Amino acid sequence: MGSLTVRNVGNDVKQRLRMRAARHGRSMEEEIRHILADADAGQTPATGPAVAGSIQTRSTRDPPGVADEHRAILSMRILLVIGGGIAAYKSLELIRRLRERGAAIRVVMTKAAQAFVTPLSVGTVAGGRAFTELFDTASEFDVGHIRLARDCDLIIVAPATADLMAKMAHGLADDLASAVLLATDKPVFIAPAMNPHMWAHPATMRNFARLLGDGVVKIGPNLGEMAEAGESGLGRMAEPLEIVDAVERLLSHSGKDRPLAGRRIIVTSGPTREPIDPVRYIANRSSGKQGHAIARAAVEAGAHVTLVSGPVALPDPAGVTIIKVETARDMLSAVEQALPADVAVFAAAVADWRVAEVGAQKIKKGGSGTPQLALVENPDILATVAHARARRPKLVIGFAAETEKVVEHAKLKLARKGCDWILANDVSAGSGVMGGDNNRIHLVTEDGVETWPSQSKGEVARTLVARIAAALVQRT
Ligand code: CTP
Repeated sequence: MGSLTVRNVGNDVKQRLRMRAARHGRSMEEEIRHILADADAGQTPATGPAVAGSIQTRSTRDPPGVADEHRAILSMRILLVIGGGIAAYKSLELIRRLRERGAAIRVVMTKAAQAFVTPLSVGTVAGGRAFTELFDTASEFDVGHIRLARDCDLIIVAPATADLMAKMAHGLADDLASAVLLATDKPVFIAPAMNPHMWAHPATMRNFARLLGDGVVKIGPNLGEMAEAGESGLGRMAEPLEIVDAVERLLSHSGKDRPLAGRRIIVTSGPTREPIDPVRYIANRSSGKQGHAIARAAVEAGAHVTLVSGPVALPDPAGVTIIKVETARDMLSAVEQALPADVAVFAAAVADWRVAEVGAQKIKKGGSGTPQLALVENPDILATVAHARARRPKLVIGFAAETEKVVEHAKLKLARKGCDWILANDVSAGSGVMGGDNNRIHLVTEDGVETWPSQSKGEVARTLVARIAAALVQRT
């Protein structure tokens, strides 16, 4: 087949086509071939009906959407920190895309980055010299690492290598890139890029969780082929257009301090109590500390939070709308009334069963032998919301409290309940999680399993909220 030329396509269509192509790691021409092949086979393209539909239905006189979509990045001063990985070659494209949108770019390169792309080519594309040395008299006099860190509106680290992430997480400052990252008070976005084994290594996961807890926003990494022959997995750097898009969307949701501004979040917390008679009940052990911490962290991130809580001995977190319930059925109906929401996090320890016939009076001893309680299963609140056709939140997150085979059971739960993420934790007697202040989470998603270090429940909550903010940006 010869080459393709498509003319008279509006800017908005072009932009969406670029995004779709970037997501698939294809050129725009290859992407159009795929769209045409899908159309020929009578299929709706799997991930791009908007692009295909736009090509067919929109005219070139439609108002171009680009100016609006990119308003957030226009006139921004962006500092790009390039780490030393093979993905550094994509940084040139990233600089071009950012400049296209009117951003002023300064670039800092690590020593390792210079092995992949030269400061000369980076400087040429960026329209100014690339900064490389911490103790370079000329540039320290001229600009200096403190001014580089402060005279910008945001910082993007791309590629963020395992080494650079480790330095950031530990506050090292032995070169220009790490010193700038330590000295800055601006929002920092990282686009991790590394071999999947390096990404999955507990050390990287620890550093990553710490960075998220510090408010760093991550973009990617994506699943895909690695530069090393035959290697593939999670670790590919997000495509330059994805990075630009994510930064823009996050900025339009008002930036680093309130990344969940304008979002509605429902959180369930605590146990439920299922009455046996007026004085007795069935319940799970749950302090509500984790669920309440998530509600608090989401409010701090700017979300409108509805906390549906069973009975707990905790103060109500400030700024949340709290609905107090006793039973699983009450909890379900409170959650349904709180919908719609962007995100629902189910941290409650819901009693799986209730008593079929609740005694109207206190059941007395010494009657006709030991009472036999007939149980019926309670509704599964998480599964009900996750499987709902209407008003399903964009992100439905459950917990899995397990005492053995934690990840294995959590994977089954993810599939069975139809949610997007499961935060699995070991609640066996020796773990100290139940009622304690720390938690160790395995985040199970369809992309795989990420193990977070043992953290306080507040840190787990902040890490989760940062992940939610980034995921919403990617899903919007
Ligand atoms: N959950 C729920 N409604 C229920 C039971 C559980 O919303 N009736 C939610 C919990 O809030 C949690 C997730 O489902 O987010 C998993 O809860 P868990 O107690 O770990 O699992 P169960 O569904 O009870 O399954 P199992 O008893 O096999 O552990």
